[in-house]
Amino acid sequence: MAKLLLQKSGPLHGEVSISGSKNAVLPILAATVLCSEPCELFDVPGLKDVDIMCRLIESLGAKVERNREENSVAIDPSGITGHVAPEELVKMMRASMVVMGPLLARMGKAVIPLPGGCAIGDRPIELHLKGFKALGAEIDVSKEGVVTGECEKLRGANIYLDFPSVGATENIVMAASLAEGTTVLENAAQEPEIVDLCNFLNKMGARIKGAGTDTIKIEGVEKLHSAKHVVIPDRIEAGTYMLAAAITRGVVLIRNMLPDHVKPIIAKLRECGAEIYQTDEGVIVKADEGTLRSTDIKTLPYPGFPTDLQSPFMALLTTVEGQSAVIETVFENRYMHVKELKKMGADISVKDRCAIIRGGAKLKGAKVAATDLRAGAAVVLAGLVAEGVTEVSQIYHIERGYEDFVEKMAGLGAIIKRVED
Ligand code: EPZ
Repeated sequence: MAKLLLQKSGPLHGEVSISGSKNAVLPILAATVLCSEPCELFDVPGLKDVDIMCRLIESLGAKVERNREENSVAIDPSGITGHVAPEELVKMMRASMVVMGPLLARMGKAVIPLPGGCAIGDRPIELHLKGFKALGAEIDVSKEGVVTGECEKLRGANIYLDFPSVGATENIVMAASLAEGTTVLENAAQEPEIVDLCNFLNKMGARIKGAGTDTIKIEGVEKLHSAKHVVIPDRIEAGTYMLAAAITRGVVLIRNMLPDHVKPIIAKLRECGAEIYQTDEGVIVKADEGTLRSTDIKTLPYPGFPTDLQSPFMALLTTVEGQSAVIETVFENRYMHVKELKKMGADISVKDRCAIIRGGAKLKGAKVAATDLRAGAAVVLAGLVAEGVTEVSQIYHIERGYEDFVEKMAGLGAIIKRVED
């Protein structure tokens, strides 16, 4: 298995360019299943999760052509005849669930063999199923966890989400796009990735209003047509490099990012004493040794502080003087990185959903694991400032969500190497 070897790297400096958003392109790829004409996507990141989603829609009968040099994907969904998501692909990626809405809408049936939970939580899907039932689908979940849906023709409905689930919002919006009549989705997720998905659906001829607010109105249409779309930059990747600059007390220019999508990170980094400048070239993050101070963060659905940056931000907080509190409200078990950071000498204690960080201790290199995608980023950031060598295992998690991670970090002066075990 591959590992990352890191050493204390000194202040990062230089510039990095952000790739297309993983969490936008995955539902957008699934949305092509709704269409019966060719579509083309640009700024598609070269990630393992994207490979899996492309293989999934190919398994249903779509033709998919990746151009990795140009980061583009051409999809011809006209040949889709399947409605069963292959178990081996779904097991590799929970986000496969978002093909269910498009399959119900396009094929009238869907079979998704869902995996159980993962490192960060049980990942239930009852809100997705509540939406599909409201739209008129018959839903069955076998004791093995295989989800089956059938419907003659989906019909518009008024749906309230008990929690603004990103995946449930995406699935229901896509299913409703081809339903008969109008759907109003209340307490919808407001993430930028939802807006990007709805922009793509509207380019294909869907009639969706309110994306980015808590109420989305979808007027069903007969069919969707060809569209081209440039995927938005990945706000979580952008936040990760902002935190890499801050934790190493460096100066980094981050190109191709949308500051509006990372307002909580900008606010919290400024609270810590980092300097953030928005320029025509991109966002500059600058932090000096000794000037950073502690702060508290609480994760919330967008526009609150993003849960996906909780663990990388915690890594920063272990290096600043003072006590910080981190409260994770979105996932029930997203502190797997705490054990790993403590192996490096961090002083963190967790009670229920609150972690208390007593910052300022000198971190030391250790053998740690990437327990999930973002926890992996957190231990890498810590490894950049820890004395000695840090060895990170299970890095396939990191490679699922950060394009050219080693190259981009090394380009900023990080002492980082990928080795096969
Ligand atoms: C998306 O996951 C993202 N993944 C996650 O990013 C992100 O952390 C999450 O949204 C929250 O922002 C993709 O977009 C591919 P949710 P998703 O449904 O859709 C509960 C990363 O690192 N819930 O909003 O699965 C659920 O248990 C990944 O890139 C229900 O209770 O997130 C969780 O506690 C990690 N019932 C909370 O909602 C449901 O039916 C948020 O889940 C659905 C969800």
